[in-house]
Amino acid sequence: MTPLQPAQDGSSSSVFDGLYGTAFPATRNGPLYTAFPYPTKISPEAIALYIAAHTKPGATVFDGFAGSGTTGLAALLCEDPPPQLRQEATRLGVRARWGPRNAVLYELGILGAFVARILNNPPDPTRFREAAESVLRGAESEYRWLYAAQDPLGRPGCIRHVVWSDVLLCSTCGSQTTVWDSCVSLGPARIDSQFRCPVCCAEHPVGALDRVVEQAPDPLVDCVAESRCRTMGRVYGISGKSFWSRDPNESDLTLLARIAHEKIPACVPRFAIPWGDLYRSGYHRGISHVHHFYTRRNLIAFGRLWERATAHEGDLGDALRFWLLSYNASHATIMTRVVAKSGQKDLVVTSAQPGVLYVSGLPVEKNVFRGLARKLSSIAKAFRSVHGRTARVYVHQKSSLAVDLPDQSVDYVFTDPPFGGNIPYSEVSMLNESWLGHVTDPTDEAIVSRSQGKGVDTYRRFLTGAFTEVSRILRPGGKATLVFHSASAKIWNALQAAYTDAGLSVEHAGVLDKKQGSFKQVTTNRAVRGDPILLLRKQSPNSNRNVGAAWEVAEALHHEALKLDASEQTPARLYSRLVNHFLANNQEVPIDAEDYYRWHSAHHSPESTRVDT
Ligand SMILES: C[S@@+](CC[C@H](N)C(=O)[O-])C[C@H]1O[C@@H](n2cnc3c(N)ncnc32)[C@H](O)[C@@H]1O
Repeated sequence: MTPLQPAQDGSSSSVFDGLYGTAFPATRNGPLYTAFPYPTKISPEAIALYIAAHTKPGATVFDGFAGSGTTGLAALLCEDPPPQLRQEATRLGVRARWGPRNAVLYELGILGAFVARILNNPPDPTRFREAAESVLRGAESEYRWLYAAQDPLGRPGCIRHVVWSDVLLCSTCGSQTTVWDSCVSLGPARIDSQFRCPVCCAEHPVGALDRVVEQAPDPLVDCVAESRCRTMGRVYGISGKSFWSRDPNESDLTLLARIAHEKIPACVPRFAIPWGDLYRSGYHRGISHVHHFYTRRNLIAFGRLWERATAHEGDLGDALRFWLLSYNASHATIMTRVVAKSGQKDLVVTSAQPGVLYVSGLPVEKNVFRGLARKLSSIAKAFRSVHGRTARVYVHQKSSLAVDLPDQSVDYVFTDPPFGGNIPYSEVSMLNESWLGHVTDPTDEAIVSRSQGKGVDTYRRFLTGAFTEVSRILRPGGKATLVFHSASAKIWNALQAAYTDAGLSVEHAGVLDKKQGSFKQVTTNRAVRGDPILLLRKQSPNSNRNVGAAWEVAEALHHEALKLDASEQTPARLYSRLVNHFLANNQEVPIDAEDYYRWHSAHHSPESTRVDT
């Protein structure tokens, strides 16, 4: 068997063992990471370790798929790293050279570029906090009544959130019942996926039943709009310091009637959604415009806050809009959900699922004033952690297929391009972008997309263009670290063809272990655990190494892993190692994750071992 080592010159393997030798941890917390939700991002602290190891202070770092700008934040962190980051470098054996680095970021998306610009160049955190508090106080003093509610004893209080419910149509007898009444139980919390009709006792899977819809005039777009019928399931509130919850009552309906007469603020976007890959005829039925993602109450509350924020100009106005948008799509819309967790008496409220625009049958209406008050503190903290650095981060809202930088002007690249068709970023960001007044032109978006007519070949062509620019702007000897993730061999091969055609080849391959999987990683059974991370250099590829048949390699890797920690022996981690092996040898990835898991379960699961022996 050919030794399972990456193709490399051997000169620098020990230097970078800490970064590429074992699964490299990347946590998903901290004020910078949580300041703004953006799909698939990596913690800035993890990226800072790569920058500090691969470059010297004063270097210029580039990211051509910058998203929310984490590579810029990482460059800023290098200037004056917090003690935990220094300790982490020591613990992982990373030879970090701390000091300022500048960064140049290219991001096609309007939202990503906006977030990256604010977060990397924040205003004075104290000025921001004062302005945000005044926006919140002003809007709340006029509109607190939107969330007024009585506790179960009739004492005054305010809503924390309301769980709403779709109305189901029994396909046997035609009677109507809410999801809440037919499928939810509390103490312990449970959401059944099976519906039992209270009228005719017929049983059906909830997903197979029609939802009741209604037609109503939509004054915002001057038409009659269809929407799913929704009723309140349960009201959760607070009076003084006591939390409570109860069934909806007459006072809640009276309040809704008052809200129905309250004007919608003029700043609310009247934006027709250009639906693409994410449209689902079930849960998106009737959602033709951005405002259909909101309850009327939250649309008014959020609109009034937006009006006050946009009255501020310059960097402060931008930072205030950043704060509001950090909460908007994920928490202020009906994409917010409840889940039933084992051992919990009540349902757990959570944010929108990242990357999908999913609306559940039990959508949640959160009190945006309370949520934004909490968010304000964490954003002020994020701003404080990078404000006042001498290093500069330049953010360009542009396609990285054509980069305005001179040849050989960049020392190092850290990037994570879109993972094939995993997430259509422009479509996901459209909701927040509509509040900014412009949405992304997806023409150059490097993704696989049915609705955009982009297949794997187009995707490969776009990546080749972007990597060719990387190759051109890198100084001689400059390196590029690439994080990628896919369960499809075709996508891996497109990536590999792209960087190879651009004159880059793999020097090291490792795994970046994001500590809790992103939604698609943890819920797709074909998911790959850990994101492979590659160090590329400008050099002609060594494409003809003979490493033997794919399954022999799989077998050898499996045996190698038996000497390692149990976490290295899971099928998902082994598949990541297999992918790395082929990439490191500049060879096509011949096996999809699904086929690998099938092979693994047939040959190496405990059951198969028992049969064999
Ligand atoms: C995986 S995300 C990057 C996430 C990022 N690391 C962060 O910190 O949020 C990939 C990004 O590439 C962007 N993108 C896609 N095609 C692009 C292009 N041609 N030029 C620049 N950016 C592009 C997408 O909009 C998306 O934000």
